[in-house]
Amino acid sequence: MDTKLSITTLTVFLFLASYVRAQTKGFDVTKYGARPNRDITEALTNAWKDACGSTTPSRVVVPKGSYMLKQIDLKGPCKAPINVQVDGKILAPKNPKLLNGVDQWVKFGYINFFTLSGEGTFDGQGEMAWKHNDCGKNKNCDRLSMNFGFAFLNNSIIQDITSKDSKNFHVNVLGCNNLTFINMNINAPATSLNTDGIHIGRSTQVHIYNSNIATGDDCISLGDGSKQILVLNVTCGPGHGISVGSLGKYPNEEPVEGLTVKNCTLKNTDNGVRIKTWPGTPIISSVSKMHFEDIVMVNVSNPVLIDQQYCPWNQCTKQYPSKIKITEVSFKNIRGTSATQEAIVLDCSSSVPCESVELDDIDLTFNGAITTSKFSNTKPTIKGKVPKLIA
Ligand SMILES: *[C@@H]1O[C@H](CO)[C@@H](O)[C@H](O)[C@H]1NC(C)=O
Ligand SMILES: *[C@@H]1O[C@H](CO)[C@@H](O)[C@H](O)[C@H]1NC(C)=O
Ligand SMILES: *[C@@H]1O[C@H](CO)[C@@H](O)[C@H](O)[C@H]1NC(C)=O
Ligand SMILES: *[C@@H]1O[C@H](CO)[C@@H](O)[C@H](O)[C@H]1NC(C)=O
Ligand SMILES: *[C@@H]1O[C@H](CO)[C@@H](O)[C@H](O)[C@H]1NC(C)=O
Repeated sequence: MDTKLSITTLTVFLFLASYVRAQTKGFDVTKYGARPNRDITEALTNAWKDACGSTTPSRVVVPKGSYMLKQIDLKGPCKAPINVQVDGKILAPKNPKLLNGVDQWVKFGYINFFTLSGEGTFDGQGEMAWKHNDCGKNKNCDRLSMNFGFAFLNNSIIQDITSKDSKNFHVNVLGCNNLTFINMNINAPATSLNTDGIHIGRSTQVHIYNSNIATGDDCISLGDGSKQILVLNVTCGPGHGISVGSLGKYPNEEPVEGLTVKNCTLKNTDNGVRIKTWPGTPIISSVSKMHFEDIVMVNVSNPVLIDQQYCPWNQCTKQYPSKIKITEVSFKNIRGTSATQEAIVLDCSSSVPCESVELDDIDLTFNGAITTSKFSNTKPTIKGKVPKLIA
């Protein structure tokens, strides 16, 4: 009975799927003048305009081949679901000045039911930019473009795409609702500055599945206003690990609520899973419902870390403790190797101590020996095995 029912459902589904496919209109950039090894900015812009105006589902296609692309900003709203399928390799200008200081090289925004897919690569050719990046020391440094900006997208999917050698962050997500990344491949050398993998801010229901992120900065980072984020089956490394924050540096920050990181592997990263907030600023906010589970660490320097005194390059005073309250955090079934003896550090704020923190079954070794834990301003609930507590 059940089987019959599901076969009927499946048949209807397949029929609908093929119907939608048959109805999908194709817009191949080569029909708009795109040629391999040439700049396709105009062709892609024009193909997008026509596809976005289509009243039936549409697909913009960039076929196999190598192409050049300047900054591009593709916006909706569109009249029907729209898919951009990139099978070719798209190259950014090497010289950062040719991107005119824009925040992002490739932007998609204000679209409902958008899909970016294909076997293609977006290569930011960041080497020249990394060499000139002095933003650690110089506040008025040249702005470097990120590979992707996804802003104000609803019900959208980014699938199978490779982001390579971005000049700055690879992917920035802002103001999106229900955005899923599947099978992403993100890579840049360990030494490339500021090349965070996926940064999420002010967005709800962002899911990252089955992806590989190797880069010079955070693998995935959550900025303020991130809610209901799921990271599943992702491998990170090299890089700085999975991070909530940094938070508390700027005024008007929104709370961060709901993160699940499950079945992930971190290899040779500086940090594993961490929450970081700045001291010395008057920002009052909160971080809650953070769950890290089934995680394998391979030679990770700070596998589990809450750092409420985050202050790189002495950019702040530690005179006042952070006012960001951290609650409902769990670390469960975390195993593997640490590159330092201190595997767990929970350094919470003396003004707003962390509450409802749970450590459950954490088995990490350092050079074959045991590791240790250190807590301040929090009393976590401990279950199963965890590294030895050092007062
Ligand atoms: C996305 O969803 C938000 C909230 O429901 C809505 O305000 C916005 O108009 C939607 N954007 C698009 C492009 O559909
Ligand atoms: C999220 O977006 C996907 C892709 O468009 C869609 O299939 C799914 O129904 C959406 N989920 C919700 C809860 O709206
Ligand atoms: C987990 O992700 C890897 C790619 O990182 C993929 O090859 C594998 O199939 C994924 N596993 C599941 C169960 O989806
Ligand atoms: C967990 O991750 C590993 C390694 O990427 C993968 O082989 C496995 O299928 C994943 N399991 C689930 C349930 O996603
Ligand atoms: C482990 O990590 C440390 C510090 O990051 C690094 O120096 C060392 O080469 C790594 N070991 C292996 C075997 O990768």
